[in-house]
Amino acid sequence: MKTDRREFLKGVAMSAGAGVIAGCACGKGTCTGADAAPMRNFRTPPMKNGIRVGVVGVGARGTGAVNRLLQVPGVEITAVCDIRGEYADKAAGIVFGKTGRKPHVYSGSDVEYRRLCGCKDVDAVYNCTSWNAHVPVAVEAMKAGKHVFIEVPAAMYLEECYELVETAEKYRVHCMQLENCCYGEEELLALNLCKLGMLGELVHGEGAYIHDRRWQIFNDAQWERWRNRWNEKHAGNYYSTHGLGPICMDMGINRGDRLDYLVSVDSMQAGYEMFAANALAADNPLRKERFAMADMNVTTIRTAKGRTIMLQHDVSTPRPYSRLNLISGTKGVFRAYPRLEIYFAGDDIWKRKHHRFDEKLTAEIREKYRHPLYREAGEIAKKVGGHGGMDFLMDLRWAYCLQQGLPLDTDVYDLASWCAVSQLSERSARNRSQAMDIPDFTGGLWRTPCNSNLMDATIDISKLEFRKIEKAKGQLNV
Ligand SMILES: NC(=O)c1ccc[n+]([C@@H]2O[C@H](COP(=O)([O-])OP(=O)(O)OC[C@H]3O[C@@H](n4cnc5c(N)ncnc54)[C@H](O)[C@@H]3O)[C@@H](O)[C@H]2O)c1
Repeated sequence: MKTDRREFLKGVAMSAGAGVIAGCACGKGTCTGADAAPMRNFRTPPMKNGIRVGVVGVGARGTGAVNRLLQVPGVEITAVCDIRGEYADKAAGIVFGKTGRKPHVYSGSDVEYRRLCGCKDVDAVYNCTSWNAHVPVAVEAMKAGKHVFIEVPAAMYLEECYELVETAEKYRVHCMQLENCCYGEEELLALNLCKLGMLGELVHGEGAYIHDRRWQIFNDAQWERWRNRWNEKHAGNYYSTHGLGPICMDMGINRGDRLDYLVSVDSMQAGYEMFAANALAADNPLRKERFAMADMNVTTIRTAKGRTIMLQHDVSTPRPYSRLNLISGTKGVFRAYPRLEIYFAGDDIWKRKHHRFDEKLTAEIREKYRHPLYREAGEIAKKVGGHGGMDFLMDLRWAYCLQQGLPLDTDVYDLASWCAVSQLSERSARNRSQAMDIPDFTGGLWRTPCNSNLMDATIDISKLEFRKIEKAKGQLNV
């Protein structure tokens, strides 16, 4: 990570304020003019012989990914890498146990991933490292001509967003964020309703990551307590894409609309510290940890078309899990938490003063308007698992697209737009909610309306040869 450039960007934004970092990411000249957004609908020749995947970072999430990927037709895991040798060996053992083939194993230092990226037996790098390593690993992989899939949030800083866009454009490889929530049954249902125009003109969305993670204060399995180290230093919302990604797909962000600016506000921090005081022994040094991260961050984005998106982030108070997942328009509203509820205005809309969700209608709509991708592959995805199946559906779909030579569902411009919210929310929250412009990474192509590939996505299951389908081990459920 090059601090000088990051500091430069920060300086530019803070001193000049609104407008300076708005407009094309291009400021840097890589995606302007006639060849704006060259990675939009980017496709490669069909990988008919399958995809050889190298997994970097096989901690909690990466090990789960290894177990899933082993069940994706046409995917072979040919290499694994982790700083920690025992984790890399364990992942390699899982691959050997299931396939009888030993993958290359790279471990022992934080730059061993370079050897995996250079390995001739790897076509794509699946990056499940901690946040600080997402971009260095991805850039190295792309420079070596490999497609790259990056866990969320793919990039933490604006500079990193630019770097991923520029590198993908230069080396002409896929760079996709693994935003599994775009593949949730309910998120896909909402997307289908939006595609069909059933909510009317979309006006507003709400998304969140509300997940009590205070138990992680004790979690030594997490590499060097990287989440805590991040939260000690950073305010704002650095984990926004679970809520934001699906809403951007609904609203056609970068495809007729774009994220224009945001304002963000942080609450106090009390939850982590109270938890530590109550749960840790008096002599435990972790009791002294202090966090810049708020208990609740609320960020509101306005889009170029005038829509609003409200995002919340809370991982340190005792609240039941929620991604909110609300989208509303001129004809109705959809929300998924605390339970799925849908409401459509009928022909008598003008006469009705009170609008209520309707349980029966919700159940009917859920059945009738299931997204085609979920209809086709949802059942098999549920069997393998990973957040109720959405993780497997996501993996199945990108692997299918690569094998069929199709463009992927989301691209590097989506990745950058969604991830830019992280650092900008921190800047706004630290500056009395000052408005922050969100860059356009598409070089103006956002003005051209089109459906996202996810909106139209499907999978022809009959074309796939599944191995024995079974529940994949080590999957997360919330
Ligand atoms: N999409 C989801 O639902 C979801 C869920 C959980 C975690 N995640 C994301 O997955 C990622 C990993 O999270 P986790 O909970 O598995 O953390 P973890 O600490 O359990 O695993 C991270 C692993 O990366 C390894 N690592 C770090 N730097 C490396 C480097 N330079 N080279 C090789 N290996 C390196 C560590 O040794 C560790 O084993 C994070 O980005 C997190 O946000 C996403």
